[in-house]
Amino acid sequence: MTDGGATMRSIENAPGHDRGYPQHAAALAAAILIGCVVMANRCASAYAAATAFALGDGASVQTPNIFAPTSTPAFAIRELSWFVLGICAVIFLVVAGLLTYSVIRFRRRPGAESREPPQVYGSNQIELAWTIVPVLIVVVLFLATARYIFGLEGFAPAPNALQVTVVGSQWWWEIRYPDLGIVTANELHVPVSDPADPTPTFLTLESADVIHSFWVPQLAGKLDLIPNKTNRLWIDPHTPGLYVGQCAEFCGVQHAGMLLRVFVHPKEEFAAWVAAQQAPAVDDPAVRAGRDLFQSTACINCHTVRGTPANGIFGPDLTHLMSRSTLAAGVASMTPENLRAWVNDPAALKPGALMPAMQLARPDLDQLVAYLLTLR
Ligand code: CUA
Repeated sequence: MTDGGATMRSIENAPGHDRGYPQHAAALAAAILIGCVVMANRCASAYAAATAFALGDGASVQTPNIFAPTSTPAFAIRELSWFVLGICAVIFLVVAGLLTYSVIRFRRRPGAESREPPQVYGSNQIELAWTIVPVLIVVVLFLATARYIFGLEGFAPAPNALQVTVVGSQWWWEIRYPDLGIVTANELHVPVSDPADPTPTFLTLESADVIHSFWVPQLAGKLDLIPNKTNRLWIDPHTPGLYVGQCAEFCGVQHAGMLLRVFVHPKEEFAAWVAAQQAPAVDDPAVRAGRDLFQSTACINCHTVRGTPANGIFGPDLTHLMSRSTLAAGVASMTPENLRAWVNDPAALKPGALMPAMQLARPDLDQLVAYLLTLR
């Protein structure tokens, strides 16, 4: 002990050593304050950015943001988040306040270097307080969270609610509307739900391979898609628009390339989308060569074009491929050039993608892409 004390004293007495703790405390407090201001500023800009901005394709997109909800489950999550953040903010202020007070109030003062503060051992009151208070806080947070979870999960679908099955695959989303006979991929279309006349959408979440997670922050919470298990989620977006989401469970090399877009349409627009998707695939005589090529290659083992021999189910349904605004689960926008590059070598756009490069000769590739471009 004596040696330790001597060492400390010798360090403190070293030339240039700053003997004053208040300066340290002030610097620490300033750093914390600056940190808080920077964080608050960033949150504010993130919030501002949550307002719609325009993409190249003209659609207005909502940046993912749990603080800008537009659907009942997301509103509930924001409410709960503010409650939890409020409690945490109070805890932070109490702890940081007491810490700052102690650092300043009990700092080393000139002339009192050798005086020790009173030593307190085993105070029952203090120990009970710092055991019981946190337990109570945790119980409150648990009960509040459980109440929200049960409230959201207990919401029963109306008999005529829109039912959609979302199947996660490496690395894309299959989206099926069993009652409407529609199968599409990566872009979920739903009607807007007027709170006065709600038309919620119920999602059945499944997986074709590994665990994925469905997350569109503005519409609902995050829920896993688990092999051999069915999970359910519902959304009732109040505002038309485009909401983006992302697979939120690491599922392999292209986990980050598993993007999801939710188009929320006014009711008539949604009905028009449904009618267009239900229509059979276009059979344009001008691209027969490409169609025949498509049907004679391995394409049809994985892809479906409704009404043709192509009925594979490993890859996305291509019946209305060109009605989608993105390609390869959102990694590229749907343009003829990107589509051509994708068919030519999927791994060039999306390394690790499970679709093989078909090694087509250039004229064949042109014909095949010309056919795909007619699948509106
Ligand atoms: Cu699918 Cu991560």
